[in-house]
Amino acid sequence: MAFLVLPSMSWSATRRPGPVENFLARHITSNWIRHNADEQSNPFRPTPENLRAGQVDFDGHCSGCHGVTGNGENQIEADFYPPVAALTGDTQKWSDAELYFIIANGIRMTGMPGFGKKHDPKEIWGVILWVRHLAHLSPQEKAAIESRMRMMTEQHEKMMKTARPQQAE
Ligand code: HEC
Repeated sequence: MAFLVLPSMSWSATRRPGPVENFLARHITSNWIRHNADEQSNPFRPTPENLRAGQVDFDGHCSGCHGVTGNGENQIEADFYPPVAALTGDTQKWSDAELYFIIANGIRMTGMPGFGKKHDPKEIWGVILWVRHLAHLSPQEKAAIESRMRMMTEQHEKMMKTARPQQAE
């Protein structure tokens, strides 16, 4: 039966799935995360050095999808379904161990990749320190991050313009 139904459904990532599909996916993954994550809290302290290391890893591996301030606005100009999560809202309700589990394993059938095999625990805990920090950025920190981002985007756009013909607005 599934073979008959599934191909005729829309599997496009640009289209929002209905409430049932949505609820099931959320419910199943949340339970999976809660059930499997252990109880450990972050063994590293948010010292300036650890935060700096976490920021560098976050900018390198996460910000393309989650945004440099963790606001969920991806920089690859594409649609994800499920959408890329903003890390500064409800995501902060996960415990440290649950965040570790999510980042190390990824979430299958979504865009969220697993980092556990290619990164050591210290790097992952460092990123978690930075994800926690993103929820409490001071206005100055936020402005500094955003202006650095704007500079990078402008450079990127300049590069793209020389690489392809100008598009009509
Ligand atoms: C290729 C895009 C992509 C990259 C790179 C990526 N993520 Fe994600 N991430 C996603 C998507 C899409 C979701 C939403 C999955 C879902 O809703 O089930 C997500 C979900 C999450 C969640 C769960 C949010 C919640 O509240 O349920 C966390 C935490 C997270 N990502 C952290 C990170 C961190 C930290 C990195 C870098 C180490 C990272 N992600 C890299 C796309 C990405």
